Amino acid sequence: MTLVRSKIIGCGSYLPENILTNDDLAARMDTSDEWIQKRTGIRQRHIAADDEKTSDLAVNAARDALDHAGLEAGDIDLIVVATTTPDETFPATATTVQRKLDIGAGFAFDVQAVCAGFVYGLAVADSMLKTGHGKRALVIGAETFTRILDWEDRGTAVLFGDGAGAVILEAYDAEGAPEDRGVLSTHLHSDGTEHDILYVDGGPSGTGTVGHVRMAGKEVYKHAVTKLSAVVDEALAANDLSAADVDWLVPHQANRRIIDAMGDRLKLDPSKVVVTVDRHANTSAASIPLALCEAVRDGRIKQGDLVLMEGIGGGLAWGAALVRF
Ligand code: COA
Repeated sequence: MTLVRSKIIGCGSYLPENILTNDDLAARMDTSDEWIQKRTGIRQRHIAADDEKTSDLAVNAARDALDHAGLEAGDIDLIVVATTTPDETFPATATTVQRKLDIGAGFAFDVQAVCAGFVYGLAVADSMLKTGHGKRALVIGAETFTRILDWEDRGTAVLFGDGAGAVILEAYDAEGAPEDRGVLSTHLHSDGTEHDILYVDGGPSGTGTVGHVRMAGKEVYKHAVTKLSAVVDEALAANDLSAADVDWLVPHQANRRIIDAMGDRLKLDPSKVVVTVDRHANTSAASIPLALCEAVRDGRIKQGDLVLMEGIGGGLAWGAALVRF
């Protein structure tokens, strides 16, 4: 019998050159480095240049992932881009990425699950590879999130940044394979009744404008810890694993306090939790692959390690993935 699994064979990242520090923000709005660091752990964020679109960030991360995996763009069958800040209303940013990588075959589409977007994209790509829709997938989380911020709203403007991260998934026959590598399981949830605590007040068929992020921060915080704890328990139980088996937690990077709360709940040594929120801020769908790639490329995450990813965002939409590297 064949047991098809998908494994991560490469990862890449891209952060725009321009950095905006908390002090830079304090010079243009009523905030302070102290407030931002104390409440969120954020010190700085990267901001895309005026001529950089989400697809440009995505393509740079994709090229880095292809190099890391030793592959050419033509080796990719499927491109999934998780983004909330597409270049255009249509076509999908994923097909723009395809064009910029000069890929004229296979298929590409976007996934919209805001800050849970990468986990959703990974789940969709993994399912498609398992069901024979191709051999290799590029899963990219890419955002120019700062373009949908209201710079007059200090409650949200200080929290987000731009960037892109990518992984390459490859299908293989895991039956009889020497080690049990790959995506072990993914777990997705959403609750549309909580729309009002985190959304953008615009859109093509709503206002006809792009809109800005609106958030009830305290409410989101409460949901984040309880819902992420539940989905992490669900992922571990589905694989007969416990928190003690987890080698690395790669959480969505929204807020240092949420990240620490998740690490504490799993009783993980803080050195086993990958943190980038201090330097990247919240890059929405890009935050997990950016953090993952940093830890893979600097040698922390090694082959055989069990990696737990989790994220939550507008929708509300949330999810978790367990991956054996
Ligand atoms: N700088 C300085 N003061 C600020 C500020 C800023 N950037 N933003 C808000 N404040 C002020 C508020 O106006 C309020 O002042 P007041 O007491 O005079 O009314 C005070 O700080 C407390 O605001 P509050 O919103 O209650 O703060 P908080 O402790 O809940 O922290 C968040 C705010 C956003 C950091 C926190 O709620 C949070 O992290 N929520 C989760 C958000 C998240 O992760 N979203 C993304 C999910 S993908």
